[in-house]
Amino acid sequence: MLLDKQSQITMNGNCIIKNASEIVTCSGFAAKKGKEMSDLGILSDQSLLIESGIIKDVDDYDSFQLAYPLADYTIIDAKNKSVLPGFVDSHTHFVFGGYRAEEFTWRLRGDSYMEIMNRGGGINSTVKATRATSKQDLISSGKKRLDSMLSFGVTTIEGKSGYGLDYETEIKQLEAIDELNRSHPVDIAPTFLGAHAIPMEYKGRTDEFISFVKDRVLPTVVERNLAEFCDIFCEQNVFSIEQSRLLLSEAQNLGLGTKFHADEIVQLGGAELAAELGAVSADHLLQASDEGIRRMAESGVIATLLPGTAFSLKEPYARGRYMIDQGCAVALATDMNPGSCFTESIPLVMSLACLYMNLTPEESITAFTINGAAAISREKEIGSLDIGKKGDIVILEHPSYKFIPYHIGVNSVEKVIKSGDLVYESS
Ligand code: NIG
Ligand code: FE
Repeated sequence: MLLDKQSQITMNGNCIIKNASEIVTCSGFAAKKGKEMSDLGILSDQSLLIESGIIKDVDDYDSFQLAYPLADYTIIDAKNKSVLPGFVDSHTHFVFGGYRAEEFTWRLRGDSYMEIMNRGGGINSTVKATRATSKQDLISSGKKRLDSMLSFGVTTIEGKSGYGLDYETEIKQLEAIDELNRSHPVDIAPTFLGAHAIPMEYKGRTDEFISFVKDRVLPTVVERNLAEFCDIFCEQNVFSIEQSRLLLSEAQNLGLGTKFHADEIVQLGGAELAAELGAVSADHLLQASDEGIRRMAESGVIATLLPGTAFSLKEPYARGRYMIDQGCAVALATDMNPGSCFTESIPLVMSLACLYMNLTPEESITAFTINGAAAISREKEIGSLDIGKKGDIVILEHPSYKFIPYHIGVNSVEKVIKSGDLVYESS
């Protein structure tokens, strides 16, 4: 149950969580690379104190009783429960019009994702529906998806535009994201994905479309502060390495961070480009080369892996185990979107990462917390339970974090605390 606004108003961002069977701190203020991903910094017999939304103290409860006026705090008893940082879903396309349930059936009968896209379906069918949807309707459907994400313990997400591909609709999507960021407990890092596909009206004129995105839409997005990142679908028959370099470099010149869909279906050298540009993250990477992975590890680009998409498209999984062994910082995300991966389920994605990418449960937790935060450049503010960070916390119904990937696809989240306020409780 999402707690209503009325009860949130009475909250002051002060809370104490006591008696937890474990506090999984994921402690750190930077992305964890390679072997560091196994260290969850677990504490036992400790309590957490959050004041005005920020983690202020970690100690035993007796010390809190002596040092703080307990009547000013909401006290939450987490006996036999695991306590973790709120999850960060660092790659989503959650604001869109319409659905594509029929495509799921087409894929089952053998059509590939790219075949459907090349014949005008796929992303372009969502573009058509999103252009025809009002901002208010995008906000209402987006809110429902955020509610669902929150119930899975997600307290911050990244959210992309990319279903407009024209000036008005790209801006409309980003404005809807901005409004949701202000009104919903889940925080949103907005990303401009104006180059998500080639719209029908630019068919055969990809260079012209890239110029339009770069010279007409991007400057407004930056001027109006509507995005923190710029993304592009760098893929065969979509946007080339050169076109990606051109758009992303300009975004960097204008002060945006860059992250992009790289080496998803065909190996184009996306991982290498991410390292060359110093991108914040490269995402998907199913086909990333050994050399690209080595360069990403060296340059500290986060490898954001989306196993739900590989599962849904029946594509081979990205080489998560190999990437971590090569010293990469890996993040996991849902890729929540109406086409290639329609899910908000954190436990499903964690299970897939463990079962098919050979991540350990510990690595999968790191990938959804501190490394997810780093994938949206927020590793200093969220992603771990360290003093000074936001009090964004998940309490499970079970005593161990291991239940999340183990209880496949099923939600084990009992409570979610956002900036020190209880905002979700399972019914
Ligand atoms: O991450 N690959 C490109 N973009 C999305 C899918 C978007 C869609 O199909 O609507 C992805 O898989
Ligand atoms: Fe995506």
